[in-house]
Amino acid sequence: MTIEEIKKKFKEDLEKVSDKKMLEDLRVRYLGRNGELNMILREIREMPEQERAQIGRYVNEFKNEINELIKTAEDRLVEAISNFSKEWLDVTAPGMSLPRGHLHPRTIVLHKVEEIFQSLGFSVIDSAELETDYYNFQALNYPKDHPARDMQDTFYVTDEFLMRSQTSPNQVRYMEKHNPPLRIIAPGKVYRRDASDATHESQFFQVEGLMVDKHISIGHFKAVITEFFKRLYSKEVKIRLRPSYFPFTEPSFEPDISCTFCDGQGCRICKNTGWLEMAGAGMVHPFVFKSAGYNAYEWQGFAFGFGLDRLVMMKYKINDIRLLNFGDLRFLKQF
Ligand code: FA5
Repeated sequence: MTIEEIKKKFKEDLEKVSDKKMLEDLRVRYLGRNGELNMILREIREMPEQERAQIGRYVNEFKNEINELIKTAEDRLVEAISNFSKEWLDVTAPGMSLPRGHLHPRTIVLHKVEEIFQSLGFSVIDSAELETDYYNFQALNYPKDHPARDMQDTFYVTDEFLMRSQTSPNQVRYMEKHNPPLRIIAPGKVYRRDASDATHESQFFQVEGLMVDKHISIGHFKAVITEFFKRLYSKEVKIRLRPSYFPFTEPSFEPDISCTFCDGQGCRICKNTGWLEMAGAGMVHPFVFKSAGYNAYEWQGFAFGFGLDRLVMMKYKINDIRLLNFGDLRFLKQF
C-alpha cells in the first residue's frame, strides 16, 4: 500500500469508530510496533540517503496527523459519554398510551344476559349455526309444507341443511343428550331472508331459554323473565303475555314489557302503546318432549326466544338495528 492509500484507509476506519476500545485498536493497527507505518519506515531503511530523508519526513508528518486525528476522536468520544450521563431518563414516567379496543354493545349486553341467567341457575350452552331441517323444523312440530314455515323465510344450503332461522333447535338437541330437570340458555346468530330495515336484519341474534322440571307453570316463566328484565334494565318492569302461535309451544305467547323509556306512559319508541314486544315464548309442546325422548306426561317446561339485538337497542336507546352491524367507529366508540 502507498502512503496515500494508507491515509485514505485510515480515515475510513476512523469514521467507523464508536467507542474507546475501537479507537485504541485503530491506533495500534496504524502506529503500533507492527503497525502499517512502522512497516514503511522499516522498508525505507534500505533506500538511498536522500530519498530516505524525504520519505521519512513525509511519514513522520503523517504519523503526527494520525496522532492528532486520534486525539480529536478521543475528545469527541469523552464528550459524548459525559453528555449522555448528563441526560436524565425518568423510568417511572408513564408510557405513550395506545388506543384500546373494547367490547361491542351487543357483546356487553350478551355478557350481562348470561350473568343474570347464570345467577338464576341456568347454564349457557354453545351451538352451531348450520342446522338440519329436522332440528330447525320437523322436531319442533313443523311438518314439511306446514304453513308456519313461511313465518321464517329460510336460507337453505342443501335440501337438508340450512342456516338456522331460530335458536329453538337447541331445545331438542339439548334434551336428547341431557336428562331433566334442566335450565339452559342458548345464545347465537340466526338467519332469515328478511329485508333489512330499522328493526330487521337477515343475520341477527337470539337467546333461547328452556326450563324443564315437574310442575313448571306459566307463573314460573313470568317470575323468571320479570326478574331478568328488572336486572337487565335496572328498574321495575311490568310483564304482559300476549297470546301468540308457535308450533312448538302450547300455549304460546309474546311477552311484552312496559316501555323502559316512558315507564308505560306512551312514547315514540313504544308507538304510544306503553309496551315493547321482546320475544316469543310458551309452554313446551308435548310433541317437542316426544322428539327429545322425554315422557310428556311427566315433564313440563317453558321456552323463550329473545331477539338479542332488540334487548341491546332498548338498553341503549338505539333506534336502528343496522347501527349494530355497520362497524362505524363514531357509533361504537360510545360504549
Ligand atoms: C322465534 O324465532 C321463536 N323461535 C321464539 C320462541 C322460542 C318461541 C321458544 C317459543 C319458544 P320470532 O320469529 O317471533 O320467534 O322471533 C323472536 C324474536 O327475534 C323477535 O321477538 C324479535 O325480537 C327477533 N327477530 C325476529 N326477526 C328478526 C329480524 N329479522 N331481525 C332482528 N330481530 C328479529
